[in-house]
Order: sequence, then structure tokens, then C-alpha cells
Amino acid sequence: MNTPKMGFATQAIHSGKMKDAYGAITIPIYQTASFEFESCAQGAAVFAGEQNAFFYSRVGNPTVSMLEDTIAILEHGEAALATSSGMGAFTSVIWPLISSGDHIVADKTLYGCTFEFFSKHLNRFGVNVTFVDTTDEDALKSALTPATKVLYLETPANPNMKIVDLSKVCDIAHKYNPAIKVICDNTFASPYLQTPLTMGVDIVLHSATKYLNGHGDVIAGFVVSDAETISAARLIGLKDMTGAVMAANEAYLILRGLKTLEVRMQRHCESAMKIAEYLLGHPKIKNVYYPGLPSHIGHDIAARQMHNGFGGMISFELKGTREDGSKLLNSLELCTLAVSLGGAETLIEHPASMTHSTYTLEELAVAEISEGLVRLSVGLENVEDIIEDLDKGLARL
Ligand SMILES: Cc1ncc(COP(=O)(O)O)c(C=O)c1O
Repeated sequence: MNTPKMGFATQAIHSGKMKDAYGAITIPIYQTASFEFESCAQGAAVFAGEQNAFFYSRVGNPTVSMLEDTIAILEHGEAALATSSGMGAFTSVIWPLISSGDHIVADKTLYGCTFEFFSKHLNRFGVNVTFVDTTDEDALKSALTPATKVLYLETPANPNMKIVDLSKVCDIAHKYNPAIKVICDNTFASPYLQTPLTMGVDIVLHSATKYLNGHGDVIAGFVVSDAETISAARLIGLKDMTGAVMAANEAYLILRGLKTLEVRMQRHCESAMKIAEYLLGHPKIKNVYYPGLPSHIGHDIAARQMHNGFGGMISFELKGTREDGSKLLNSLELCTLAVSLGGAETLIEHPASMTHSTYTLEELAVAEISEGLVRLSVGLENVEDIIEDLDKGLARL
């Protein structure tokens, strides 16, 4: 059914197809822990890897498998692994790649828990991490060592919307050592806006909790890469090390969410652009970070590497004090004070005290995440209503 010529929405709707006994249009939820073997010999052949069959849902499940195939197609990867969270995707792919004595280069601006794993936990296992600004070519080049196994980054980065030139960093890393795995967290963009594997990236990660599911009711993640890397992430990372398996029910919900990914992303992008322009022109706002604005430092790169739009995430700083920020967040009525992003509801939060509270004040400064930064996930409501809510909140300051 699927052909590479089909459009994104068609692929998102039709890729995860299987024929069941009744011709069901949507993929059934295979709510089962294990699957019957035909015989002892067949069971042994499956365990020996000589025969491919579903046998235990931690290693494979038909509903989850259909979803993995769809995500692999949308991200232009050979294969995908579904996990129980974005952090489960991250740890399932990282652990098989590294050993004591290895080195990782990571961008200094990352989602809070990813940063925590790199900055506070990996050194206990003898893995060193160097944080750099990957937009700084010289800094990146001098951070790479013969022990470097992974280069890790996000673009647009959470929470300050920094844009990294993917082709350029891949070129630098792979020229230094073709074996370095460049990993890009593509959560903020979604494959509708950006496909890092087509730009030289080796592994794409997602918190599917966000845009891929899109309805704020699931915690989930994905790894997308070549078949060999996904096999290691599945059969070593997930099976033996993290156990971060996605349940069939969550896979069903994400398959449903994917059917509207294109139209949802179009609306997120359109509304975010209008809100960014509104905030830019407001006298009480100091800075607006949205890659769609020509004033954004990474705008030209984003325009080149993101197709179809610039996403639904905006961050901004107020001119006033930190108390003004709290006052604004407490007073909004439609924009909901909550973490997470990528759902139908507009959510607003304060990274320094919430999603990025894993950073110390010094680390926040190095990562260029200001204490006053506010992060907005633009939802699918009518944009005039979101703007009116922000307008009323700002007027109260
Ligand atoms: C960019 C990014 N990556 C990864 C994660 C982790 O995902 P999860 O919460 O699904 O484990 C998040 C969560 O907010 C995120 O924003």
C-alpha cells in the first residue's frame, strides 16, 4: 500500500496496515503478554533467532509493530523501536552504544532529564560527557576525541528554541570519525517538519508523548535508525537493560494520533507564528524565541532544514522581574500552567523551576536558558482566543 511517492498524511494514515481475520480498518489492540508456539522446535527456533515470530510482548507485539513500521517510514529510517517514554527511548539506544572509558559530546541545551543523565549519572559508569554549543564549529571540533562514540543534540532545542545546523554537525563528526553516532532528539519538530536522518543524522529520538500522539494522554517514545542499531536498542537496550516497553494500548492511541499529525502540525505552526508576532510587538516582552521569526538567530538554518513550518513551540522573556513571570503564568485562564507539550491544549510553563530545574543556576547560564524564560506550547484552540488570554494576562502586570 505504501509507496515513497505518497504524501506525508497518506503515509501516516495508511502505513501501519495489516490484514486481520475480519478486515478491521483500524489496527486491533493485541492485549496479550505472550503468543502460542506451534511446537517446541518452533519455540526454540524463535529464541535462537532463526525464525521471526511474535512470542513475548516485551520483544514484539503486532499493534506496536505496525506503529513502529509507520514511524520508520515517516522518519525515513530503516526501522523504529517504540518505548514506554521518551526517556525510555533515550536510555534504550544509549546503553548498548557505550562502555566504560567512552566519551560523549552533547549540546549544552537539552531537555532537563536528558541533561541530568549526561551531567550527573553517566560519570558513575566511567563515561565522560563534554557539553558544547554545537552551533560553534570550533568548540565542536575541539570537543571530539578518539574515545567519542556519540554526538547528542536537540533542534529546535528545549526550551530556548536554539537551532543547530544538522548537515554541518554531522559532517564535522563523521569527518572526524565515521563511527560516531549522531543522535538528534526530533521531538519539537516531528517528522512532518524535519527528517534528520535525511541530513546525515544516524539516530532520531522522540518523546511521542508530545506531537506524535498529540492528545496529551500517553507517555511514549521512539528510536529510529538503521536496522542494526534498532536491533541492538531492542534486543539489548530495551529487552535486557531498560525494559521500557510500549504497551499495545498506547500504540493504538498513537496510531490514531498519527492520522491527524499533518493537519495538527499545520495548525500548530500557523497559530505559533501569529502568537510569536503578537508577542514580538508587545511592549512588556523583552525577547521572543521562535525559529519562524526572521529575527531568530537560527531562522535561515531552520528555513533550510525544517520543511512545512517552524513548529508550535515558542519561548519568551518578559521585561519585568521574575515575579512578573509567575504573575503572568498564574493569571492566564485558557493557557494552562503545566509541563509537556504538543497537545491540543495550550500549555505554559517556567523551565528554570520546572522542566529544567535539574540544571543548577550556573548550568542554566551556560546553557543560555535565562531564569525568566517562559515556554509556551501552542495548542489547537482558535488562535484569537489564545492571544486574548495572553493579552489580558500581560495587561495585569
Ligand atoms: C525534547 C524532549 N525530549 C525527551 C523528553 C522525554 O520524554 P518523556 O517525558 O516522554 O520521557 C522530553 C520530555 O518533555 C522532551 O521535551
